[in-house]
Order: sequence, then C-alpha cells, then structure tokens
Amino acid sequence: MLSNLLKRIRGKIALSFSFQAEDVVVLDMALKTGRKVEIFALDTLKHFKESLEYGAAIEAFYGVKIRRYKPDKRATDELEKRLGEFGVRESLANRRECCSVRKVAQLGEALRGKSAWITGLRAAQSQTRSALTLIEFDEQYDLLKINPIARWSERDVFDYVERHNLPLNSLYNRGFKSIGCAICTRAVAPEEDARAGRWWWENPEHKECGLHIK
Ligand code: ADX
Repeated sequence: MLSNLLKRIRGKIALSFSFQAEDVVVLDMALKTGRKVEIFALDTLKHFKESLEYGAAIEAFYGVKIRRYKPDKRATDELEKRLGEFGVRESLANRRECCSVRKVAQLGEALRGKSAWITGLRAAQSQTRSALTLIEFDEQYDLLKINPIARWSERDVFDYVERHNLPLNSLYNRGFKSIGCAICTRAVAPEEDARAGRWWWENPEHKECGLHIK
C-alpha cells in the first residue's frame, strides 16, 4: 500500500524522525519501497544524548543522512534567559512557547518544496490524536501528510521492530515509552501510559507540541 502511494507522488517526500520506535518503523517501511525520501529531525538542542546517539546509529544502519534543523539561536537564548532552565514547567503558555521556538519554527523550512510528509503518528497515542487518518491534506504546509502507522498499537510497533531486528533508542531500556526533549520527558512505570512520560505536569488534552495539532 505505502509503496503504491509513494510511487504516485511526483515531488519530494520528507520523513520526520524524532528518535522514537515509531519513526524507525516508518523509515524502514519507506526505505523498503525504494522511493527516495528526505529524512529530517527538528533539533531542539534539548534532546537526550541517547537520542542523538541513536540518530547517528540509524544513519550508519541504513546508510542515510538525517538532516537536522536547528532553532534560531537568538530566539532560544532569549527564551532561556526569560524562562530559566525549567520555566516550561511553570505554565502551559511557557511550555508551548518553548516547543514553538525550539521545534515547530523549523518545520516550515524542513517541509519547504515537499509534496508529502511521512510521520510516525498513531491515533492510539492520545486523545488528541484519536481522529488521525492514514492520509490527510495539511493545509498549513500545503502537502499530503502520510501517517502509515496511524491505526497501529504500541504492541504492533515493537513487534515490527523485533521482527525486522531494528535498532532502538537505548532510553527504551530505561523505562521510557515516549521520547521528546530531556527536560520534558521522563521514564514511566510499566503500567503507565506512554504519554504519561511527556509533559507529565500537564493535562492529557494539552500534550501536543504544535507540530501536528495546534
Ligand atoms: S509530540 O508532538 O508529542 O512531540 P511525538 O513525539 O508523539 O510528537 O512524535 C510524533 C511524530 O511527530 C513523530 O513520529 C515524528 O514524525 C514527528 N516529530 C515529533 N518530534 C519530532 C522532531 N523533533 N523531529 C522530527 N519529527 C518529529
């Protein structure tokens, strides 16, 4: 299915990589179609070193390049001065501003000139994503947004990883189930939901960075 879909897209295809299991699954699926994809990561400058190491391991494993888009230095310096290192935990507005400056701001650049964008989003990840579909049109970025694992469960993701012997971010061995920036992500207990480790001081309906859901 993915292969047929990607073949029909004439222009450039971007694939976003956030150092998580979902991303290696969609990357593996996309590369196996033989269609060229441009892989990118939005570098917030606050990722875990394990995530960056994982990015390098993926580049070596597949022989690909993950292009990193960094935030504007003046904007991040100003933000850090104003909010302090942990100010993002003090209010939803602070945290959203940080996501916007460190991550969402570069997305337009990463998607410029692309006809399609492949993500690792899943509907089951959270209530905010429950309406997610396999293919959607992203009006803001004027492209086709493809979510190949939109209907997959967490179990499906890890089964695929195991079946295909894919490398994983080492943080999964330390109780992490969902991985974002270091100051906003923590390990969770086995019975806890994956998203419980992200922005854990916030209500579930607010747990979005603004990349996908505003
Ligand atoms: S978030 O909104 O809560 O941060 P999440 O971590 O679930 O998003 O990731 C969902 C998908 O968004 C990933 O599979 C990936 O396609 C994209 N994404 C999220 N963060 C990044 C990032 N830093 N760089 C590139 N893509 C990202």
